[in-house]
Amino acid sequence: MEPDMRTLWNDRWAEEGAAVEGSEPNPEVEEAIAGLLPDASARPGGEERGNALSALRAVDLGAGLGRNTRVLARAGLQTTAVDFSPVAIAALCEHAAAEGWDDGLVGITTDLVPWMATTQERYDLVLGCYMHGIDAAITSAAGLLSPGGHLLWILHAPDSPHGPPPQIHRPSAEEVFAEASALDYLTDVRVETVVRDERFSDTILTAVRQG
Ligand SMILES: C[S@@+](CC[C@H](N)C(=O)[O-])C[C@H]1O[C@@H](n2cnc3c(N)ncnc32)[C@H](O)[C@@H]1O
Repeated sequence: MEPDMRTLWNDRWAEEGAAVEGSEPNPEVEEAIAGLLPDASARPGGEERGNALSALRAVDLGAGLGRNTRVLARAGLQTTAVDFSPVAIAALCEHAAAEGWDDGLVGITTDLVPWMATTQERYDLVLGCYMHGIDAAITSAAGLLSPGGHLLWILHAPDSPHGPPPQIHRPSAEEVFAEASALDYLTDVRVETVVRDERFSDTILTAVRQG
């Protein structure tokens, strides 16, 4: 019998650890955090910024080892990390405690497809990074936004040499834009393709839920 995706990811995190995605965060995460702050004077960092963010909630969907979760939590956001790999969530929480960014952190080990469909939790920032193979994932993720909340969705571009195996669909920028634009409560829908280190490219969606 073929192992299921949860088992595959769990084994991968256990065997390869940070080698899977590296330990550097995506730069767009810091930009998304800055976008949450209406007062530009609070943006550069420091205590004022931390205070402004501490009332806000963020979720990292399919967080893995938490290279992006760390940025959210360190910025002062009340941060939730969801992943169906117990190995990943345990390692993420362990690193957070060891590095001191566990204050307000919630780690949830579950399949995010049913979780997104049923949870009553809502977030000011919803992040999904490299979450391929989940149908209508953008629609489900957008449903978790609080009024005025920001969505950041990052995918491997269809022609990127980095990413999931060929049998897993990689939506084009047009498909990503179409799915997000169909949600009439989303505004400022933007999709761009960025090249990283001239080696691989990502499709990046940002959008805001109407207040
Ligand atoms: C490509 S990795 C990306 C990890 C992380 N977002 C990052 O960029 O470093 C995909 C992650 O999504 C998780 N995942 C995939 N499908 C999932 C599902 N249905 N429910 C919960 N987690 C899932 C995997 O366990 C894995 O940790």
